[in-house]
Amino acid sequence: MSEIGLVGLAVMGQNLALNIAEKGFSISVWNRTAQRVRDTLARAQAEGDLPVTGFEDLAGFVASLERPRRIILLVKAGAPVDATIEALFPLLEPGDVLIDGGNEWFPNTERRAKKAEEMGIRYIGMGVSGGEEGARHGPSMMPGGSRDAYELIAPVLEKVAAQVGGPCVTYIGPGGSGNYVKMVHNGIEYGDMQLIAEAYDVLRIAGGLSNDRLAEVFADWNAGELESFLIEITARIFRKRDGDGYLVDAILDKTGMKGTGRWTVQEAAEKSVPAATIAAALDGRYLSGLKNERVRASRILTGPQASAAADPDLVDDVRNALYAAKICSYAQGMNLIRAASDEYGWNLELGSIARIWKGGCIIRAAFLDRIKDAFDADPKLKSLLVDPGFAAELSARQASWRKIVGLAVSNGIAVPGLSGSLAYFDAYRRERLPANLLQAQRDLFGAHTFERVDRQGSFHADWDELADGV
Ligand code: 6PG
Repeated sequence: MSEIGLVGLAVMGQNLALNIAEKGFSISVWNRTAQRVRDTLARAQAEGDLPVTGFEDLAGFVASLERPRRIILLVKAGAPVDATIEALFPLLEPGDVLIDGGNEWFPNTERRAKKAEEMGIRYIGMGVSGGEEGARHGPSMMPGGSRDAYELIAPVLEKVAAQVGGPCVTYIGPGGSGNYVKMVHNGIEYGDMQLIAEAYDVLRIAGGLSNDRLAEVFADWNAGELESFLIEITARIFRKRDGDGYLVDAILDKTGMKGTGRWTVQEAAEKSVPAATIAAALDGRYLSGLKNERVRASRILTGPQASAAADPDLVDDVRNALYAAKICSYAQGMNLIRAASDEYGWNLELGSIARIWKGGCIIRAAFLDRIKDAFDADPKLKSLLVDPGFAAELSARQASWRKIVGLAVSNGIAVPGLSGSLAYFDAYRRERLPANLLQAQRDLFGAHTFERVDRQGSFHADWDELADGV
């Protein structure tokens, strides 16, 4: 009998199965196409005679599992998960546990959990981050759903997860909260990647930095406050050669996506949470997708002549701008998680979430320790921006940040992430915004009413009558 089962042996499933086996848990695996089962068994053999048992029939797979059965699903989100569950349900018994490890839209998890519950089956929607490498050697995992089911699977997950100051897994909360947190992780991932791309654009266009120099700069940054997986791999990317040139220069400037970043922005809109940096990252991907249009537009529309000027402070200023914008982006993501937690009564702990993102996942970064500390010190903290430590850092970096946004604007370099974050910061720190004028307009054309700064209540003015206020 195997201690655990895994269904779905594409890249993530195959690597996670081997990771689980390597940590000493016997595992049964099944996949719709049998070749992947055979591939997984061959790898299990080659990578250390790992305790993996493969099945080509689903009933045999289910029958091979210790009870209560614990089955991880790593099949494509959406309809394929529904189809897999439909096939599994008749083979399961009350008390069994299903753990969906895909990037699933959280209401789908809640719908399935409800159906599973009617049959006495416990259901978990678990975000898994870290790509192929993470799945094989230690991902960050965000399981949400049935708490007692989590307790049953926790000993496995805790060993399999990345280990950075403890295992990078914790019970997230009820319902679809695990998927939700993973979705926001991906939104933050989009934001980080956009900000890094903008920093690259400023450095190469306004600073004239070569790929070799960019590799050095990013490697240096990775030794400081920006230390993170994405900065580290960016340094590596600039070193990769392609014939006489560099591979990065040969890659088409058109970003693909699977959609979790879009969900994050949709959710931010749904929950009325401002998320300028993440939204800018999503727009950046859409604009990149208009490659043919952009090529045509580049022959019609002109901008300023960008010029590379020698500025000894440029690299440090870009680093400061990037770091400040990154704080804004994480603040937006955390606020979105909190808004969902409040609305759905999930009771999520933002400090613990920052902790499990410290290792294994794509957005792992040294500064997550600081985020954890900020929310541990004040779980009700309204925004990371007003944590005393982050507030001081933003303040120390804002001159650089403004300089870089100004430089980009005057050179015609689009920096929607850096500038959108700065606008977010500037709007958030202002006691009074021009929203009074919007309210006046709304009241004038639509009698939508307004509040006043000096009196309680809801007011409507006769805007044709110039003499009177309200
Ligand atoms: C992770 C990633 C992963 C995601 C890819 C692709 O945490 O390991 O977030 O889950 O699927 O990064 O995302 P896009 O195709 O949307 O860029």
